[in-house]
Amino acid sequence: MNLPENLILDQFLLGPWGNYMYFIGDAQSREVAIVDPAWDAEAISERAQKNGYKIVSVLLTHGHVDHVNALMPFLDNLNIPAYISEKEHPDYMPEHKNLIKVAPDSMISIGQISIQCLHTPGHSPGSQCFSYENVLLTGDTVFINGCGRCDLTGGDPEAMYHTLNDVIKKLPPSTFIFTGHQYGPKPYDTLAGQMKTNPYLQCETKEEFLQNRM
Ligand SMILES: [Fe+2]
Repeated sequence: MNLPENLILDQFLLGPWGNYMYFIGDAQSREVAIVDPAWDAEAISERAQKNGYKIVSVLLTHGHVDHVNALMPFLDNLNIPAYISEKEHPDYMPEHKNLIKVAPDSMISIGQISIQCLHTPGHSPGSQCFSYENVLLTGDTVFINGCGRCDLTGGDPEAMYHTLNDVIKKLPPSTFIFTGHQYGPKPYDTLAGQMKTNPYLQCETKEEFLQNRM
């Protein structure tokens, strides 16, 4: 796997639901953001300390409980910002003075690197993927050989169809897909690989997708 040399990308599993968490950041300054802190703030902090990371922010792919339930200790103790899509459903919107609601395509700086927020509704109205060069963090939008469920409050299978076809599939095939849960047979894949094995990326019509997803 060829990741950008200036990038820290550290994937790890936490909690009972197979959530992947990530540190993403600047290899030179070792400044990182935590993506979707959940389940065990202490374990996350210890890992950061062990690896010499300086946590400067939190990126949220969406507001579901299993992606945010360890958010508050970081905001309270480190007084850092957390970025969530402005489009997220009110039911899933954490409340904290450090929460920053971002518009689609916003750029977030971590040290010298700049990460783009791609708005990818479907699993929730404010789901977003984080993009940096050939890396895409997909949250619960894309899984290895799967995609996020669309039947929860604010879920929208038609929006998911458009997200997959108009956002995800438009990315370069060499893009590495890093997901929000360990649901598939491997921890990550390229988009090209997923085009071959992910049934939700292979649907030829919206009707076919809706039938499969729901
Ligand atoms: Fe979710």
